[in-house]
Amino acid sequence: MFTYVLALHNVLRWLVLLAGAVTVVLAWRGWLGRRSWTGAERGAARAFVAMLDFQFAVGLALYLFYSPITRSGFGDMGAAMRDAPVRYFLVEHPVIMVAAIAVAHVGSVKVRRAASDAERFQRAAIWFGLAFAAIAGFVPWARPMLPSF
Ligand code: HEM
Repeated sequence: MFTYVLALHNVLRWLVLLAGAVTVVLAWRGWLGRRSWTGAERGAARAFVAMLDFQFAVGLALYLFYSPITRSGFGDMGAAMRDAPVRYFLVEHPVIMVAAIAVAHVGSVKVRRAASDAERFQRAAIWFGLAFAAIAGFVPWARPMLPSF
């Protein structure tokens, strides 16, 4: 089961990054170019947040039930904290990703409540940009780029 859940988490990373990149590019383009907010921007932002929620659920399942790294880490937290690769998956990766997902959610509420398209683009560019940068920075890039069975 672990292999399949990890494979799903691996592939979802690309969907998250693709949806995030499109959302951020559209947001900055609209902000700098004083454009109108259309269905394209709304759809991209929705897809980004939906992919993030899905990835969060899969990551949480790995974290709590399937990952041998976190399971062994919970068994001896002291030793885990001194072991950088274990600490990465036990603390750094999940904490930053959860924070980034929260930032994306706050951003999507702020975008919805914006009074004008200019404000909508500005908020989207900043909030989704921050979330995207944190996610891209805390993907474990040393791991396989695609699942290996
Ligand atoms: C947008 C959010 C996230 C992205 C893009 C992401 C991406 C990744 C990637 C690419 C891997 C390596 C997969 C592989 O080796 O094939 C990984 C591993 C892992 N992720 Fe995430 N992740 C995210 C959020 C989370 C969250 C929120 C949690 C926990 C609550 C989490 C827990 C884990 C764990 C425990 C592993 C290591 C599993 C193991 O090898 O034993 N991830 N993540």
